[in-house]
Amino acid sequence: MSYSTLLTCLENGIFTITVNRPDKLNALNKDVFTDLNSVLDEVENNTEIKSVIITGSGPKAFVAGADISEFGGLCKAEAMAMARRGHNTFARIENSAKPIVAAVNGFALGGGCELAMSCHFRVASENAKFGQPEVNLGLIPGYGGTQRLVQLIGKGKAMELLMSAHLIDANEAKQLGLVNYVTTAETLLEHTKNILEIINSKAPLAVASCIKAANAVFNESKDGYALEIEEFGNAFATDDMKEGTTAFLEKRKANFTGN
Ligand code: COA
Repeated sequence: MSYSTLLTCLENGIFTITVNRPDKLNALNKDVFTDLNSVLDEVENNTEIKSVIITGSGPKAFVAGADISEFGGLCKAEAMAMARRGHNTFARIENSAKPIVAAVNGFALGGGCELAMSCHFRVASENAKFGQPEVNLGLIPGYGGTQRLVQLIGKGKAMELLMSAHLIDANEAKQLGLVNYVTTAETLLEHTKNILEIINSKAPLAVASCIKAANAVFNESKDGYALEIEEFGNAFATDDMKEGTTAFLEKRKANFTGN
């Protein structure tokens, strides 16, 4: 499928989604959200896709935020609808059964930082910059940023970044646990793909259960411990569990089918 604001490429089961508005530093406008929802349908439905990378087009930005030019004249209800749309899309990313990783190749500000935080984890290039600068605009994050930033880096530092609009670089983001690795700009995608190749070699249903159980930590309506017990039990009903344990005992590499 093709999209007006996204580029996509599927290679060895890894589907790379590139937000493609480089002249606007890949800012998230209505069209990007429409396309993101369609591309998430594609991710769910295309069995060739094992895992996903989200990145930004051009050398400067991952995503520099929600598109500020769409903010003018919104009333409270419209602004809330805009925030709800972002929440719904990013919750789809967070709860995707297939791993989704952000390859942060430059500015990840406001909605861009929120998009990266909704992914399962993040890899950043040296020139990446993270922040929630909404207070500069008299706003607050509206796509889950106040929640996920606290979850990922802890309340004290998150409070400081939210209130000061201070931007942090890739190395500080790594120290804070916001990103897992820092790479050169040239090796960012290769490094991210290497991690996903390892994940893609594991049992897909077990990987999906890990995502579900780990996400439950931050979902008050779920008992993560009970969910882990259930997912552990579910794994015993899969062909892949039989294959994985048999392959171990037979001292060979497991051949997982995702069943
Ligand atoms: N929404 C809409 N347009 C944006 C944007 C955003 N969030 N971020 C950047 N752009 C646009 C600029 O308006 C500019 O468009 P133009 O060439 O038509 O004037 C273009 O992208 C390039 O940005 P520019 O500001 O010229 O680049 P820079 O290198 O000088 O600065 C930033 C880069 C990221 C520091 C700066 O663009 C910025 O502060 N952006 C807004 C970040 C923000 O507040 N995000 C949260 C939004 S809620």
